Amino acid sequence: MTDYVTVTSDAPMGRTGAIKLHGRDAFDGMMKAGQLAAATLDMIVPHMIPGVTTAEIDRMIFDFVKANGGIPATLGYRGYTHSTCISINHVVCHGIPSDKPLRSGDIVNVDVTPILDGWHGDSSRMYLIGDVPLKAKRLVEVTYECLMLGIEQARPGNHMGDVANAIQRHAEAHRFGVVRDFCGHGLGRLFHDAPEVVHVGRPGTGPELKPGMIFTIEPMINIGRPDVKLLDDGWTAVTRDRSLSAQFEHSIGITEDGCEIFTASPGGFDKPPY
Ligand code: MF3
Ligand code: CO
Ligand code: CO
Repeated sequence: MTDYVTVTSDAPMGRTGAIKLHGRDAFDGMMKAGQLAAATLDMIVPHMIPGVTTAEIDRMIFDFVKANGGIPATLGYRGYTHSTCISINHVVCHGIPSDKPLRSGDIVNVDVTPILDGWHGDSSRMYLIGDVPLKAKRLVEVTYECLMLGIEQARPGNHMGDVANAIQRHAEAHRFGVVRDFCGHGLGRLFHDAPEVVHVGRPGTGPELKPGMIFTIEPMINIGRPDVKLLDDGWTAVTRDRSLSAQFEHSIGITEDGCEIFTASPGGFDKPPY
């Protein structure tokens, strides 16, 4: 049975396994944090070019988030020491910023999670570096479509399985693989909270969506098989078959008649080409 709990005060609440139904204050806070995440992903657009290192991008993002009154949630999170995750080509997620320069043809995910006034804004986008092969561009486009098709299903009365199924059907119609090992998640004052937001599933299954729920949808889609493996650094997840992988992530809140996207791009840079 799914457990729901209405958040009645703005006191921080821990992880109980219950799905929180947030109030107006949370939606306002999440919109501000989400818009900082989105502005951060807009800010780097002109910098995502061949020759730049992902450590330089990470530093720029730290400075920008700080200058706007936020702090990256990933800093010190479970021993992680960077402001972003930056995942290149066959890296599925949790790529660690490094001194390796980006090269023409790379497809790159940048994932940011600023905390602003205690609220977490979690979002990621793909960037195309220089000239990217058509097949890779197609993967990126289909992955964005998967996210948005999932969001279209995010309304009261639907279930998590409806979101998941929309994503899975679209990816698999293109013969792409949907990653099973990582999910979206509830968030708010906590970075990772209930519910788990899976990206494959059957319609009508899983928790019912109710107004006040706040969570991410963040499908990872591979050109090849869904399987991933973890590198020895303990963070970097790559495709087992070394095929390219793409991901987009929005933070959303369920309203009375649909959902609100907290992390929409203020500059209109929601998907490439930018
Ligand atoms: N931002 C990621 C997410 O979407 C989580 C990154 S946790 C880290 O949930 F420690 F790897 F940075
Ligand atoms: Co997330
Ligand atoms: Co994220």
